[in-house]
Amino acid sequence: IARPTASLSRSLLPVLRSFSTSRTRQTKVAVLGAGGGIGQPLSLLLKADPLVSSLSLYDIRGAPGVAADVSHVDTAGEVNGYTPEKLGDALQGTKIVVIPAGVPRKPGMTRDDLFNTNALSFGTSLKPSASTPLRHIFSSSPVRHPVNSTVPIVAEVLKKAGKFNPAKLYGITTLDVVRASRFLSTLKSTNPADTTVTVVGGHSGITIVPLLSQSAIGKGVVQGSPEWAELVNRIQFGGDEVVKAKDGAGSATLSMAYAAAKFTHALLRAIGGEKGVITPSFVKSPLYESEGVTYFSSNVELGPEGLTKIHPLGQLSVEEEKLLQAALPELKKNIEKGVNFLGA
Ligand code: LMR
Repeated sequence: IARPTASLSRSLLPVLRSFSTSRTRQTKVAVLGAGGGIGQPLSLLLKADPLVSSLSLYDIRGAPGVAADVSHVDTAGEVNGYTPEKLGDALQGTKIVVIPAGVPRKPGMTRDDLFNTNALSFGTSLKPSASTPLRHIFSSSPVRHPVNSTVPIVAEVLKKAGKFNPAKLYGITTLDVVRASRFLSTLKSTNPADTTVTVVGGHSGITIVPLLSQSAIGKGVVQGSPEWAELVNRIQFGGDEVVKAKDGAGSATLSMAYAAAKFTHALLRAIGGEKGVITPSFVKSPLYESEGVTYFSSNVELGPEGLTKIHPLGQLSVEEEKLLQAALPELKKNIEKGVNFLGA
């Protein structure tokens, strides 16, 4: 019998580790909208994450099928699919609820154009259950658009249920960070893994503010130069590239799923006790509250009970300050729309 090669042993290692991890830690993650374009690849990526001990897949249609499919992946976590009448069961005991549910953009649409459709689906899927199942949620992370408005909507739903904990509600803006890293590394021929860029603000057009001056490699792009302006524009409107290329078939789903899985993994590391987990996220924030911007994405520190610290922005260049000043009024509008959605 041939002995396993070194590389085979190496490839088996993470799988073996995942068995021990899942036995020691209960980390149930629910995906609301698991049957959709983001939900399906997200469910797959979460199934492959050794930190997820149990995966709860819910949607108005298709979740049991997705659950049966991803349950065959050879990692230890268990998987269950739920139909609409079982939302309460789907949320029972969950540590994290990720919400990609909603419809995507078509060419010519802004994320804000999705407000009515997606906000309504949030209202109907979460509102009736607000008094019971939501109490089990450790944290909730909406991805679906417009994130600048859907995060405040979820906050209001939780407030009405008396369950709002600002330390446990996050809008996932990770795709902007992922894009900034990838686009900058392509421009400068570097490895994206070593090309980190902090992106702050919100997740939509001009509310996306990349702080290239704070990045070791981003500093190599002269602030205010045509190269800088083009890069900033690409980071802010990267989603439009995908909408255009998909030509009516929707917006980014695979990179969105990747970003959501990356954020969830960071949160699980923090819940598991790892110190110093810092990632940008759109949260209830005091940073620009005085200007009426009550939610804002900046680097946040995560701990076993959720958000532990909101980092200030640090030094900005003159150009970045201008980007920020353009973002704030737009953000304020988006947030107010979400806050007011449910009415008094
Ligand atoms: C993205 O940035 O790709 C997503 O927010 C989807 C979209 O509507 O652009």
